[in-house]
Amino acid sequence: MSDILTHTEAGVMTVTLNRLERKNSLTSDMYAAMADALQHASDDASIRVVVIQGHETVFSAGNDIGDFLNKPPSGKDSPVFRFLRGIAAFPKPLIAAVCGPAVGVGTTMLFHCDLVYAGDNAAFSMPFVNLGLCPEAASSLLVPQMMGYHRAAEALLMGEPFMAEAAMEVGLGNPVLPPTEVNGYALTQARKLAAKPITSLIETKHLMKKGQMSAVLHQMDEEGARFGHMLREPAAREAFGAFMEKRKPDFSKL
Ligand code: COA
Repeated sequence: MSDILTHTEAGVMTVTLNRLERKNSLTSDMYAAMADALQHASDDASIRVVVIQGHETVFSAGNDIGDFLNKPPSGKDSPVFRFLRGIAAFPKPLIAAVCGPAVGVGTTMLFHCDLVYAGDNAAFSMPFVNLGLCPEAASSLLVPQMMGYHRAAEALLMGEPFMAEAAMEVGLGNPVLPPTEVNGYALTQARKLAAKPITSLIETKHLMKKGQMSAVLHQMDEEGARFGHMLREPAAREAFGAFMEKRKPDFSKL
């Protein structure tokens, strides 16, 4: 079965991360499939709302680390950047249903979703520094805006997980629910939105986002260039090697 499942019914496209054996970590093929799904949803007038969901035990472990080692993204047209630009500029309502770990891009993609419903087991983290990397998905711009600088610095420099209740306090997320109810609740909300006038939804979202869209896309480009460079540097190679060998990384000589 595919690692990304899409299903469209009654104006709602559901995109399901379906790679549970690797904790829904994302490969370049998965980014490509999600970018294509978003493009299709944007172009197809019969699709009015998109829901991105994982499993009730895990949303996503972030980028597949083996993929980072073997096929690091190169260039602005690589699948990951196509997905990130697609999610940032997606014109219709976008809902995320998040349970369990949401690591790296599993968290940063949420800053581009309009509604985020989280399970009480949701654990958000952005451990880029711990991996010898830097933030992506415009998180270096959006996280300080959302959380204030000091909480953002804690989230991005320390990279430790924070739970759904703490996320809600800083404005990341809508109601926190039991994990078994999250995907169903997100779908219910999506159906409510799909019944509303689509032009009003699109205009309202556009008006809320337009003030900083170009800054977001510019920040993504700048982060992407630095991230792409850092992926090939010794600190990231050590972090990825340590993950694959199930040991602690040693940055003491770097
Ligand atoms: N890339 C590749 N494989 C991954 C992965 C990733 N990002 N995350 C998990 N996996 C693999 C594990 O290596 C493990 O494989 P194995 O069964 O061959 O040993 C399997 O998925 C299950 O993961 P495990 O770590 O045993 O699950 P867990 O429930 O104990 O922990 C996480 C879940 C998400 C907290 C943990 O897997 C994790 O921290 N993953 C790495 C996250 C990360 O650094 N992502 C990059 C962000 S840019």
